[in-house]
Amino acid sequence: MKIHDAYHFPVYSAHSSRYDRMLYRRCGRSGIQLPMISLGLWHNFGDTDDLTKGREILRTAFDYGITHFDLANNYGPPFGAAEENFGRMYRKDFVPYRDELIISSKAGWDMWPGPYGNFGSRKYLIASLDKSLARMGLDYVDIFYSHRPDPDTPLEETMGALHQIVQQGKALYVGISQYDAKLTSQAVKILKEMGTPCLIHQPRYSMFDRWVEPSLLNTLDKLGVGTIAFSPLEQGILTNKYLKGLPKSSRAVRDGRYLSKEHITPSVLEKVKALNDLAEKRGQSLAQMAIAWLLKDERVTSVLVGVSSAKQLLDNVRSLDNIRFSKRELDRIEKVIK
Ligand SMILES: NC(=O)c1ccc[n+]([C@@H]2O[C@H](COP(=O)([O-])OP(=O)(O)OC[C@H]3O[C@@H](n4cnc5c(N)ncnc54)[C@H](OP(=O)(O)O)[C@@H]3O)[C@@H](O)[C@H]2O)c1
Repeated sequence: MKIHDAYHFPVYSAHSSRYDRMLYRRCGRSGIQLPMISLGLWHNFGDTDDLTKGREILRTAFDYGITHFDLANNYGPPFGAAEENFGRMYRKDFVPYRDELIISSKAGWDMWPGPYGNFGSRKYLIASLDKSLARMGLDYVDIFYSHRPDPDTPLEETMGALHQIVQQGKALYVGISQYDAKLTSQAVKILKEMGTPCLIHQPRYSMFDRWVEPSLLNTLDKLGVGTIAFSPLEQGILTNKYLKGLPKSSRAVRDGRYLSKEHITPSVLEKVKALNDLAEKRGQSLAQMAIAWLLKDERVTSVLVGVSSAKQLLDNVRSLDNIRFSKRELDRIEKVIK
C-alpha cells in the first residue's frame, strides 16, 4: 500500500517535550539507555499493511520519547518489506534525528533460498546485514542481533561474525535473541574475549510465557547484559480485545501467521478476563498492566511492543504511570496465570 504523504503528513518536527514523556533504563553495563517501552516492526509495516498508520505510529512513538525501533531482515510480509518501508519513512521523517535513534536489525531465520540464507553462519549474517542496511538506507544499525541460536554452526563463528560486523562499523552494538541461559553465558564470554561486549538479549517474555525467570534473567543481570522483552502482550491476547469475540481488524483474524483464532481458547479467555478485572481495579487497561508487570523487575531494560495503531501505542506508554504492584496484587496475578 502506498503512503499518501502530503495530505496526511505535513513536514515532521519531533515534539519538543519528547524526553519528558518517557522513562529510560540503562542497558546492562553499557553506555546506552533504552526507553522503557520500545517499538517493534514485526507486524503492521509490511506491504499489505496500511502504511499511513505505520508512519503515524513511528511519529507518535518518537514524539513520546520512544527512541528505539526494532526490525529484522524477515519482517514483512514479504521478507524485507518492513525494513524497506521503514527506510522510506525514515528518509522522510527521521534523518535529522538519526543520532537520537537506536535502530536494530537481526538475522537468523529463513531469509533466502539455499544453505546461506538461514541460521548463524558468518556468510549469512554479514550478507544479510548488508542487505538490511541497503533496504533501510542506513550506513549502520545501532544493534545487530543473532536472531536465534544455530545448533550446527560453532558459536565461535556466529559470535565472530557479530564481532566482525562491529569492527566493520556496520553495527555499533550486538545482541542475541532466544538463546538459553547456558548458551548466553558462552556467547557473552566469546564476545568479551574478542573485545565486543554483548549489549542485550531479546527473549520472549510475558505473563503467559515466563521461561526467562528460572535462570536467564539472573544470568543476564550478572553478566551485565540488558534484557528487552518481546511479545509482552502475547501478540494481543493480553489485552481486552478478544473478550467480546474476534475483532475483524485483530492480528488473529487479519493475519493468522503466528497468532490464529485457535490460540484464543475458552481457558485462555478465562484467564484474560480475570486479569482484566484486576487491571481495572488498578485503574489500568490490561495491556498497561501486562507491560507494567514486566517493568516492575528492574532487570528488564525495555518492553518491546508491537501496535496496529498510534492509539494502542499511547495506551501502552501510559503503563509507565504505575509499574508498582502490591504483594496482594502480585499474588492474585500469580494465582490466575499459574
Ligand atoms: N526476537 C524475536 O525472535 C522476536 C519475535 C517476535 C517479535 N519480536 C519483536 O517484538 C516486537 C513485538 O512483538 P509483538 O508484536 O508480538 O508484541 P505484542 O506487543 O505482544 O503484540 C502486539 C499486538 O498486540 C495488540 N496491541 C498492542 N497494544 C495494544 C493495546 N494497547 N490494546 C489492544 N491491543 C494492543 C496489537 O494487535 P492487533 O494487531 O490485533 O491490533 C498488536 O499488533 C516485534 O515487533 C519485534 O520487534 C522479536
